[in-house]
Amino acid sequence: MANQKGGVGKTTTAINLAASCAILGKKVLLVDADPQANATSGLGFDIHSANLYDCIAGRKTAAEVILESEKVKNLSVLPSSIDLVAADTELPLMDEGHFVVKNILAPVKDDYDYIFVDCSPSLGFTTVNVLVAADSVLIPVQCEYFALEGLGKLLSTIKKTREKLNPDLAIEGFVLTMYGHNRLSNQVVGEVKKHFEGLVFDTIVTRNIRLSEAPGYGIPVILYDASATGSVNYLNLAKEFIKRNNG
Ligand SMILES: Nc1ncnc2c1ncn2[C@@H]1O[C@H](COP(=O)(O)OP(=O)(O)OP(=O)(O)O)[C@@H](O)[C@H]1O
Ligand SMILES: [Mg+2]
Repeated sequence: MANQKGGVGKTTTAINLAASCAILGKKVLLVDADPQANATSGLGFDIHSANLYDCIAGRKTAAEVILESEKVKNLSVLPSSIDLVAADTELPLMDEGHFVVKNILAPVKDDYDYIFVDCSPSLGFTTVNVLVAADSVLIPVQCEYFALEGLGKLLSTIKKTREKLNPDLAIEGFVLTMYGHNRLSNQVVGEVKKHFEGLVFDTIVTRNIRLSEAPGYGIPVILYDASATGSVNYLNLAKEFIKRNNG
């Protein structure tokens, strides 16, 4: 999940798409690549655990820091912590500095059907490392004013990453989030579909208070309130995602 615009639903999508895919029987790893560590705490893990920064610093392997969810079968998390703020300045000084995250994940890659990565709201060195490691980028877009603002910069970063570092990087798709049944939301949906025809997921995530409550309990929304529209939306998104990936 990448979008340097803050608060657009990256973490909510990462947690709930990952959990829904796991519930549908896929083996899933969620990597938290944001020093805010919202995906880590939102799934009930300690933000003081050994984490991605320890891997970047060369102290731990991915296998040593990955934690299995006790609440969601088939779901594991590679946690983050505030320590990860240092990565943006330290990675550029490392040998093959763009490939550090890719190299960390390489030994565990084949253990999972899907690896999702929750990025921070930045296009810094750590996010680019994730783009280098990834097969594709999923872009959450909030149904709000200024939704399209900044997407040009994100797309040009993806293009540059493709040209120089990861020729196979695809755009997985745009996911519209926090949809409200009003004219503004409908305008944003229309604009995004007009610009990115064919790349927009059919499933639209509605604004739903349960989605913002669940992380406080350290669980995905589907375990918090299975009948909430947020649960239904993310389960449908997971089905659509799996179908698009021939799974
Ligand atoms: N569909 C939704 N309905 C209601 N609230 C939502 C929804 N999606 C996200 N939120 C809430 O909006 C806020 C921002 O969402 P989230 O943390 O997922 O965004 P983000 O893009 O990861 O933010 P950041 O850029 O800071 O990492 C959170 O409080 C979250 O609970
Ligand atoms: Mg986030």
